[in-house]
Amino acid sequence: MLDDLESVLYTSEQLQSRIGEVGAQISRDYAQTHPLVIGVLKGAFVFLSDLVRHIDIPIEIDFIATSSYGSSTQSSGAVRMLKDLDQPAEGRDILLVEDIVDTGTTLNYLRDTLIRRGARSVKIASAFDKPSRRRIPIVPDYCCFTVPNAFLVGYGLDYAERYRHLSCVGILRPEIYTDEH
Ligand code: PRP
Repeated sequence: MLDDLESVLYTSEQLQSRIGEVGAQISRDYAQTHPLVIGVLKGAFVFLSDLVRHIDIPIEIDFIATSSYGSSTQSSGAVRMLKDLDQPAEGRDILLVEDIVDTGTTLNYLRDTLIRRGARSVKIASAFDKPSRRRIPIVPDYCCFTVPNAFLVGYGLDYAERYRHLSCVGILRPEIYTDEH
């Protein structure tokens, strides 16, 4: 699998070290509350599982599943809700956990939805932020790494549902995605 990468952007060690810092910051910021931490599937499952192990205050965890891209590489601009929360958002301090903020479409939709449902606060934690692609002005409250506008895979990020399980994040070799189209 690693042969399919043009280069590794962040190793597993670099990711884990930074996630430890972000987890500690979240623990400090939410020390007086009992936040509901929501993983945005599928991409966030790896980051969420690492991040929550660095949070040392009481939290609850739930998942929501959205899809904006289907299996293509371009955002359609529309968000589909594939799985909703199991519990009410009303009155909760919510931390949305994402693998990447790209155009901002997904998080804008989710944040608006949760606020409409009466959430007390909604903040965003993202493993990666790609601000050069932004169409909606979303700024993550917690971000591990700002990344360039390249085709990234690994650490939850996929190409056609592959590579999510890589423990590093890297740039996919262009021949992988151009050969298949
Ligand atoms: C990816 C990623 C974010 C979203 C970011 O999800 O996990 O949820 O796109 O892009 P945006 O800022 O342009 O909305 P995707 O819809 O590909 O689903 P996945 O998590 O199942 O890969």
